[in-house]
Amino acid sequence: MCGIVGYIGDGDTVTILLESLRRLEYRGYDSAGMAIIDDEGNARIFKIEGEISELESIIPGISSRVGIGHTRWATHGRPTTENAHPHCSGNICVVHNGIIENYQELKDELISEGFVFISDTDTEVLAHLINKYDTGDLRLAVSTALGHVRGSYAIGVLSNEHPDELIAARKDSPLIIGLGKDENFIASDIPAVLKYTNRILYIDNLELISVKQDSVRVFDMEGNPVEKKEHIIEWDLEAAEKAGYPHFMLKEIHEQTRSIHETMTGRLHELEGDVNFEELGLNRNEIRQFQRIEIIACGTSYNAGLLGKYLFEWLAGIHTDVDTGSEFRYSSPVLDPSTLVIAISQSGETADTLAAVHEATSYGCRTLAITNVVGSTIFRDASHTIYTRAGPEIGVAATKSFTSQLVVLYLLAIHFARARSRMDADRARMLLSELRKIPGHVSRILEDAGTIQECASMFVKAENYFFIGRNINYPVALEGALKLKEISYIHAEGYAAGELKHGPLALISKDVPVVAIAPHGHTYDKILSNIKEVTARDASVIAIADCDDCEIRKFADIVIPIPKTDEVLTPLLSSVVVQLLAYYTALELDCSIDKPRNLAKSVTVE
Ligand code: F6R
Repeated sequence: MCGIVGYIGDGDTVTILLESLRRLEYRGYDSAGMAIIDDEGNARIFKIEGEISELESIIPGISSRVGIGHTRWATHGRPTTENAHPHCSGNICVVHNGIIENYQELKDELISEGFVFISDTDTEVLAHLINKYDTGDLRLAVSTALGHVRGSYAIGVLSNEHPDELIAARKDSPLIIGLGKDENFIASDIPAVLKYTNRILYIDNLELISVKQDSVRVFDMEGNPVEKKEHIIEWDLEAAEKAGYPHFMLKEIHEQTRSIHETMTGRLHELEGDVNFEELGLNRNEIRQFQRIEIIACGTSYNAGLLGKYLFEWLAGIHTDVDTGSEFRYSSPVLDPSTLVIAISQSGETADTLAAVHEATSYGCRTLAITNVVGSTIFRDASHTIYTRAGPEIGVAATKSFTSQLVVLYLLAIHFARARSRMDADRARMLLSELRKIPGHVSRILEDAGTIQECASMFVKAENYFFIGRNINYPVALEGALKLKEISYIHAEGYAAGELKHGPLALISKDVPVVAIAPHGHTYDKILSNIKEVTARDASVIAIADCDDCEIRKFADIVIPIPKTDEVLTPLLSSVVVQLLAYYTALELDCSIDKPRNLAKSVTVE
């Protein structure tokens, strides 16, 4: 996730672009840059590894009437000055948010034609492609270039041959146009422009826009004009930064339709029935040689890791253990180089997880980090890294970073299963095509959140909650309990449902709601029995179940339906339900949702 902006008009371009970028820092802030055309007609480019304030400090006072800017959250290539946007080729400068899936093949082709690349980014191919097709009509050059591209993009394009025009385009990444008086703006999101105008055009997929000081014209990719409706935004700036949501947590829960998609982008190879992890750096032979996987993580990332254990064992047939970072570092681990150690940390800075990585390295193990933050400490310390690409998460409670971790674990387990000949191509294809549908399923859960909100309000007085699940649903039960206690301060326990009778059943009474994660699958009958055990003790049961499950309605007080998918993928959907349940409960209780007491987003101390 990155932020792009563009400005054309009589205002102070540099100041306006900097101010707009600041409003998009929530989308990423590891590097930043700007390209402007000065009053002599020269393109001036400024880039920096660091935040917008540092970018500001390197830009001298320049008078300019047009420019583009970018704040980056690295996906391809580390956060360095070379990789910061804009990327330029000849007269062309480009800022981009999204992922060009076929960038490697385009890059090879462009190199063979003599184009020279100076960054590791996917975006640089766009600049060269537009330059290649530029015969004097900038809009045509951009649409021709985009015709060769697979992937997602919101772009802003500037050329010092055309100082009176900015071109923007969108596919699967957000883009808006701000309409001013004798000035116009492009941006990834409304907060970027709200200080200057509240008149907005929402840009749809595969639209291309010519932005001039006194006109904005929108076209489809064939060059046909498109009529757009102007929207007036009534929010103030603070509300706009949360895109109108009352809390970052709710915004981030809703962003999961997008973030899950981003995590998968370019990685699903349905035709071959496999997963492409370019950055993994482990070949099939190396994958086959691992005897065991040890997963280390803390908190929510640990819960993701526990699901990883079930997936690696079930799908890829490889023995997997999971441990918390804080315990692992003081245990006496039995490790040797045949163990792959996977460390999961959204921040990449959690002290306990980092210590575990160091410990594993000292045993000669390969270490694979799964993190959301490009260039974080875990990236430097681990021998291999996969990025989750969920985008920055502001709410302390992990939501979209968790589901993106799950997606990476699904993809890894499928990839390992294929490499170890434990899964045939047909099964892999089927799972990958079901994975593609998950963002759509998540949308449906979000649309129907009313039932979850009612349920939260029904049990808001409860002092204790239980979350139960079996097998792959057990990690979701743990995560549901963690989310609820973290933001609503209600005591909650996540339990493997079969364990209830070994102690906790003593705590079950009519005052204790029990959330049962119960989609259809090989343990469905078992969880039904566990539900009966608790209803026999007068507990109220909230069941998260398949939308076509009529049976469960006989036993549960409330059923929260989730769309049908393959059994193995259901945790991706039930996770969203437990997040919403925690959110609405905390909302009823008027808790500090985005900043729960005693907690921090990144735990860099032991
Ligand atoms: C809970 C939460 C924490 C983190 C934990 C590990 O919502 O966010 O439990 O999961 O502190 O953090 P990372 O993943 O950054 O290592």
